[in-house]
Amino acid sequence: MLNKLISNILPYMPQALVWQFSKEYIAGETIEDAVRAAKDLNNEGIKTTIDVLGEFIKNLGEAEANKREYLEVIEVTEKAGVQGNYSLKPTFFGLLIDKEAAYRHIREVVAKAASHGNFVRIDMEDSPCTDLEIELFRRLKAEFPGNVGLVLQAYLKRTHQDIKNLKDLHSAEYPLNLRLCKGIYVEPAAISYKKYDEVNQHFIEDIELMMQEGMYPAIATHDKPVVDGALKLIEKYKVPKDLYEFQMLYGVTPALRKSLVDQGHPMRVYVPFGKQWFGYCTRRVKENPKMASVIMKAIFVK
Ligand code: FDA
Repeated sequence: MLNKLISNILPYMPQALVWQFSKEYIAGETIEDAVRAAKDLNNEGIKTTIDVLGEFIKNLGEAEANKREYLEVIEVTEKAGVQGNYSLKPTFFGLLIDKEAAYRHIREVVAKAASHGNFVRIDMEDSPCTDLEIELFRRLKAEFPGNVGLVLQAYLKRTHQDIKNLKDLHSAEYPLNLRLCKGIYVEPAAISYKKYDEVNQHFIEDIELMMQEGMYPAIATHDKPVVDGALKLIEKYKVPKDLYEFQMLYGVTPALRKSLVDQGHPMRVYVPFGKQWFGYCTRRVKENPKMASVIMKAIFVK
């Protein structure tokens, strides 16, 4: 009830107040803010993946501007010597308006990253995007086998099969690099697992499948039981350090993150930045009202 109330009033709250909770989770508004945050993380032995905030654009003119922004981000970040790669949301490039135009824009971004020997992760959005984003990834992976990865969501019932279906893109030279996360959108029960234990169980099964196949799992979670389950699998399959990584969101569970880094596990942090932080944060809370509790804590429990 309270969660729902907060998620409804949040878009009308003053930006300065919303920034109070957002600033812990967002590097800032400018590329310089992102580079600074990334370098601080690099100094702690953590790699980054930089993301420009924004999604579900309304017209293709925005896609052109967003592509230019990503190209600039890559230019600046590479020049600054940041140890990290890039993540992007295909709807930021107009995936749901014109998938060919979105493909062309994203291809340019991946080509630019590849020219620096770097890598772009295609984030996974809500279920109307799943097939489109897998198809997009397939096309990019065919052209840039070592420079692109995808995200899959453990809460979707289709994900285990999706991993199997992507096996044809996997090779020892260019392992299939999949970030597995629980999934952040509210999806219909017909296509998604809803219970915490069920999602966790499938998360672990998906990671195990990737390890059995020699793929590269990027284990994206802050949930200790899932982290512990993944650690057991790393031990069981003797996965070398260059064939997996943990990933966490900027500002979330820094103690758990540090304990993994201290144990020598590869860690990457997702660093979002950009002018669209307000829309991003309020949309996230509307999509997933459980986030409202996190916000309440951030505002009131200091
Ligand atoms: P869970 O939700 O059970 O959280 C475990 C604990 O972590 C919580 O109890 C809380 O303490 C803490 N926590 C988790 N999220 C927090 C937050 N935002 N703020 C504060 N505390 C928090 N999703 C998606 O659909 N598509 C995508 O492309 C991505 N990409 C992505 C990249 C990376 C690097 C990460 C870590 C996550 C994503 N996600 C995502 C989000 C993901 O699907 C999921 O919603 C969140 O990671 C939360 O799930 P956990 O596994 O952390 O478990």
